[in-house]
Amino acid sequence: MGAGSQVLASRGHLRGGINMADAPRTVLISGCSSGIGLELAVQLAHDHRQRYRVVATMRDLGKKGTLETAAGEALGQTLTVAQLDVCSEESVAQCLSCIQGGEVDVLVNNAGVGLVGPLEGLSLAAMQNVLDTNFFGAVRLVRAVLPGMKRRRKGHIVVISSVMGLQGVVFNEIYAASKFALEGFFESLAVQLLQFNIFITLVEPGPVATDFEGKLLEQVSTTEFPDTDPDTLHYFRDIYLPASRELFRSVGQSPQDVAQVIVKVIGSARPPLRRQTNARYTPLAALKAVDPSGSLYVRTTHCLLFRWTRLLNLGLRCLACGCLRFRIWPR
Ligand SMILES: NC(=O)c1ccc[n+]([C@@H]2O[C@H](COP(=O)([O-])OP(=O)(O)OC[C@H]3O[C@@H](n4cnc5c(N)ncnc54)[C@H](OP(=O)(O)O)[C@@H]3O)[C@@H](O)[C@H]2O)c1
Repeated sequence: MGAGSQVLASRGHLRGGINMADAPRTVLISGCSSGIGLELAVQLAHDHRQRYRVVATMRDLGKKGTLETAAGEALGQTLTVAQLDVCSEESVAQCLSCIQGGEVDVLVNNAGVGLVGPLEGLSLAAMQNVLDTNFFGAVRLVRAVLPGMKRRRKGHIVVISSVMGLQGVVFNEIYAASKFALEGFFESLAVQLLQFNIFITLVEPGPVATDFEGKLLEQVSTTEFPDTDPDTLHYFRDIYLPASRELFRSVGQSPQDVAQVIVKVIGSARPPLRRQTNARYTPLAALKAVDPSGSLYVRTTHCLLFRWTRLLNLGLRCLACGCLRFRIWPR
């Protein structure tokens, strides 16, 4: 990006008599049938300054009812619903061809799936599906919108990563790997794209109360986890799962709260590369940051989970009630 083009972008320039800085930005969001994607689409579509035209996509249009109801009168005005399966290049191309001018100003890679359980009991196909959706799904979309953004020398790519993109979490190895992959990919790309005035933001929520956890627990309750030894199964079912439920109950955010953070990031003139959404989770994430060797994080979480479970639960309750009164980044 030349400094000149940044100045032009910030002052607004005229194209066809329209001040481009004032024209609504087209925002394409993947995975809007529920959760964070749905909330974000609705909040952006109801922006009181009408700064956005939202293309809210989902792989199964049979699920669009909840979104359409939540969108209310924004439907057909500032919000349209379109089909998009991030695992299909054809679907990505088809979706973009339906957008006026094919121009996406803001891309939100939100679609994602989880996978939890002892590694030995998970099929390779299930693991590949997580990588294909969470990582390659985002790559497919970025490759499709990037030429247009580069041509116009502006754009913003938002990626719904996770705190699990920063630190591994036991029994979530594949899901965490997919989010780590996103972090490495987009941090690398961000360097090149600044040259084109295109920003990247990795949004890193902690636990969020959406269908996501429900789907995972349902999947876990019907899975046998063959080839898994009894000790590991016991750690998973009797120690990890209750702790995970407690974590969601105590420090879980609502999708509305997460969407609000993303709306701010999208409205920002100089979006950050990373944005955590949940200050109550930050003490857990900080364990990794203070010790580059990684031992502090691994040993502390191991002890909290397997040895000091009561302390873990007490700590989570303290975080939930706010009695640990230190306000830390992010605010
Ligand atoms: N919930 C959490 O605790 C949490 C924490 C950190 C990060 N995140 C991330 O936040 C994002 C949104 O998750 P959420 O919590 O809002 O869960 P959610 O309610 O389950 O939403 C996930 C969305 O992704 C869609 N999706 C899955 N596979 C797809 C595909 N191949 N093509 C297009 N869409 C697809 C789902 O569509 P269907 O309805 O068709 O399945 C759904 O709309 C995910 O990337 C997730 O990893 C979630």
